[in-house]
Amino acid sequence: MTLPKKVKIVEVGPRDGLQNEQQPISTEVKIELIHRLADAGVSYIEAGSFVNPKWVPQMAGSDAVFQGIERKAGVTYAALTPNLQGFERAVSVNVSEVAIFAAASEAFSQKNINCSIDESLDRFASIMEAAKAAGLPVRGYISCVVGCPYEGEVDPRKVAEVAARLDDMGCYEVSLGDTIGVGTPGSIVRVIEAVAERVSIHKLAVHLHDTYGQALANIYAALQMGIDVVDSSVAGLGGCPYAKGAAGNVATEDLVYMLNGLGIEHGVDLDKLIVAGRFITDKLGRENGSKVSRALAK
Ligand code: HMG
Ligand code: MG
Repeated sequence: MTLPKKVKIVEVGPRDGLQNEQQPISTEVKIELIHRLADAGVSYIEAGSFVNPKWVPQMAGSDAVFQGIERKAGVTYAALTPNLQGFERAVSVNVSEVAIFAAASEAFSQKNINCSIDESLDRFASIMEAAKAAGLPVRGYISCVVGCPYEGEVDPRKVAEVAARLDDMGCYEVSLGDTIGVGTPGSIVRVIEAVAERVSIHKLAVHLHDTYGQALANIYAALQMGIDVVDSSVAGLGGCPYAKGAAGNVATEDLVYMLNGLGIEHGVDLDKLIVAGRFITDKLGRENGSKVSRALAK
């Protein structure tokens, strides 16, 4: 069994975690969460998104969040950008890099970004061009890599096709999103195998929502295949506004605990991370979605 020596954790809590929250969350609280995550040693934080505020009102304040954060050296502060308008907003507040997001299912693409998969990739081409000119790296996401809330099972070949196109466009990494968390180590391995035929495994990441409680098992399977970038959300916060009932990503605390047990380096201080997770769940009045945090509660 080969496992990576080191894993890069992509913390998506401030974006994927908070985008779904209906209650108002102040800019100060969002900023404090980001500061606490950086202080815990998280080196990549998806701190917001520059989408249409009518569609995802919680992210409307991402401009203010980026303007307010004190940046720590060595930390990447990234944001989602669905179109050139979003990209320009992101650049104006000095994001470190951006992410574009496509889907492997037509129905989800329509619901999430109001266009077909092909149209979305055309739209992203202009972001790629602008990002290149601005010297900003671009990460690519694919949603619904196993199942779609509207279309059901998704063909791994479709995922591989979209991944290859994102790779060809110049994304430095493609994050495979199990948006509704239906994957198991069986189906996750199948989709990673299909994608790895088209895109180097070293350019892939996994982004696994934990709706069916399979995320850690799926991550372990992905690590065994050579993937060493894992997305996660502090306190397991989140979901997707266009995938009703989907749970948050795997909790970062639970991921860190598992990596510690495997002796895999990641750079995050679990105790500080747990405090960051408790800070945000207290502010939101939500149960903490991290089993590790709950188990270690005094
Ligand atoms: P649209 O409504 O088709 O856009 O949205 P449009 O170009 O027709 O413009 C309509 C209006 O929106 C215009 O304003 C634009 O200015 C404005 P009006 O003239 O009516 O006043 N607008 C914007 N305003 C600010 N920033 C922008 C922007 N773009 C347009 N960037 C669009 C198309 C793609 C923008 C929209 O569908 C959208 O914002 N979608 C994002 C939905 C979203 O955020 N989903 C959640 C994130 S994805 C996710 O969670 C999955 C992931 O975690 C992986 C996984 O788990 O699978 C990544
Ligand atoms: Mg997600």
